[in-house]
Amino acid sequence: MVETSAAKPRTTRKAVIPAAGLGTRFLPATKAVPKELLPVVDKPALEYIVEESAAAGLDDVLLVTGRGKSAMVDHFDRRPDLEKSLEEKGKTAELNAVRRSSEIASINTCRQGEPKGLGHAVLCAASHVGDEPFAVMLGDDLIDARDPILPTMLDVQEEHGGIVLALLEVPREHIKRYGIVAVENTGRTGEGHLGDIVRVTDMVEKPDPDEAPSNLAIIGRYVLPAEIFEAIRNTKPGAGGEIQLTDAMADLLKAGTPVHGVVFKGRRYDTGAKIDYLKATVLLGVDHEELGSEFREWLTDYVKTSLA
Ligand code: UTP
Repeated sequence: MVETSAAKPRTTRKAVIPAAGLGTRFLPATKAVPKELLPVVDKPALEYIVEESAAAGLDDVLLVTGRGKSAMVDHFDRRPDLEKSLEEKGKTAELNAVRRSSEIASINTCRQGEPKGLGHAVLCAASHVGDEPFAVMLGDDLIDARDPILPTMLDVQEEHGGIVLALLEVPREHIKRYGIVAVENTGRTGEGHLGDIVRVTDMVEKPDPDEAPSNLAIIGRYVLPAEIFEAIRNTKPGAGGEIQLTDAMADLLKAGTPVHGVVFKGRRYDTGAKIDYLKATVLLGVDHEELGSEFREWLTDYVKTSLA
């Protein structure tokens, strides 16, 4: 088990959320609206991510944006006119929901002029991040709040330094979509919904399944040292002309930076592709505090009567 260091403040204080991609898998919905702002049940995907960041103690959040910048920032800003109107009408629950999103974290933004890849997006955060380790959280990768992984990743980084990755076992046919790692066991495991804590010995972006070093994929949570910025500057564009974060991390690994991974076995929802987004909506819908029981009842009936 990993010892938690909840009592003392961690050195990692900032989270970077790259949200400047084109979202081509979700067109036409993402033509004018960034995929990070698409609602999952009743709030934008991005709000779940910012909540997860704040819950792990990272309440300094940098959004890397491209188009749709103002809408993303507006969502986390106060809305005095709307608040006043809700207050006058006595709509307390709605008022609280509107206020909550502006109180979760301190939101900063920077702009990625052109979507030249995840590595390039992370590099845009260099001046905001400075010399400290920081977390990167992908806006279309939702980790269920009941199954947190970030606090354990931060503890592992605190102990070993270097890079810490969230890893997921994926089926062979999905290997081509991810950065894949080779690992060694450390003999330690996380608790409950977390699996082994491993040492990463190699990583490769979107390999052919026959050449992949394992079926452990890097998912959208990283804790990175500030040295990553120099490594990204030295990284040549790879597949699709994009500067890949995996390539920069692989260079640091080769140069001796420790890289660890925490295997995730909990509930995770990918909202970047249409089919996964549909599944996420159903899975989070049936458990929703306010809508869950009615939705579950309807869904059960629908499956029995229309899909049987
Ligand atoms: P994805 O590859 O999932 O996002 O990048 P995408 O490029 O927007 O999606 P598709 O493949 O075209 O449908 C993972 C995350 O990195 C961000 C995206 O916004 C997403 O949250 N990203 C990607 C950037 O911020 N900048 C980039 O240049 C690329």
